[in-house]
Amino acid sequence: MTHFLDIHTTDTADLRSIIDNARSMKTARNGRPRGAPDDEQPLKDHMVALIFEKPSTRTRVSFDVGVRQMGGQTMVLSGADMQLGHGETIADTARVLSRYVDLIMIRTFEEQTLLDMAEYASVPVINGLTNRSHPCQIMADVMTFEEHSGPIKGKKVVWSGDGNNVFASFAHAARQFEFDLVFTGPPPLDPEPALDGLYTVERDPHRAVEGADLVVTDTWVSMHDPQSARERRHNQLRGYQVNEALMARAKKDALFMHCLPAHREDEATSAVMDGPNSVIFDEAENRLHAQKAIMRHCLGR
Ligand code: CP
Ligand code: NVA
Repeated sequence: MTHFLDIHTTDTADLRSIIDNARSMKTARNGRPRGAPDDEQPLKDHMVALIFEKPSTRTRVSFDVGVRQMGGQTMVLSGADMQLGHGETIADTARVLSRYVDLIMIRTFEEQTLLDMAEYASVPVINGLTNRSHPCQIMADVMTFEEHSGPIKGKKVVWSGDGNNVFASFAHAARQFEFDLVFTGPPPLDPEPALDGLYTVERDPHRAVEGADLVVTDTWVSMHDPQSARERRHNQLRGYQVNEALMARAKKDALFMHCLPAHREDEATSAVMDGPNSVIFDEAENRLHAQKAIMRHCLGR
């Protein structure tokens, strides 16, 4: 069974081939009408369940569209509306869904939910974000970086802000794709200890971004964070906002990324988000192409 659960648990060569396939599928789609099917229909007669226990715009739409372009059909399920939200175990849910569908994508809170789904499903399971990681996003981000700036190997990537789930997948990717990752943020919001050794720390954001090829940030309050932490986090993170003064310290052609959704003027200013170095909407588009390649990898097609 080929699941796609995390970047560090996926074979390095498979990660590279997913990115390469995503790029060629993107090229093949160029000029085609949005709703038109791909020439190849690897998901013909396939049903895909998309389970969401948290809100989503990009993940939901890009998976749904991607499956349809490849000839398959989708079923979007809200965790709250399923029996799973009312006490049925993940193991039973996984075994039941496997009798109906060919692939499961799940966005959930606890990583253990994803792992249980993968253990008990007899079809591939894809991680569409947990409290701990967001691997599909970072596959799209690596693809986006390489489209604009060439191979990511050996490049300097600086994360400014909260050491959260999206950072964690960047840290996993740093090892797999061999780039240098620097974390700049306040100590209370350091990445989890399991990621130690995958990145370096520079507390001063202006020093951190010197020579950076890519500057990345994300929301200061994630979906799994208590809303009561909002004000404290804003106070802790204010100095780590990505603004024009900070970007001016990076390389002249440094890219800016944000997985979105953003809180403009908090973690990043509109001047940066809409500025010449920003590739935020290419990242969003590339979710579609990267995930299509991930689904093909999981299904061996
Ligand atoms: N970046 C991302 O995963 O966005 P959504 O929450 O809209 O899916
Ligand atoms: N860190 C954010 C990412 C959203 C795509 C969250 O988990 O809410």
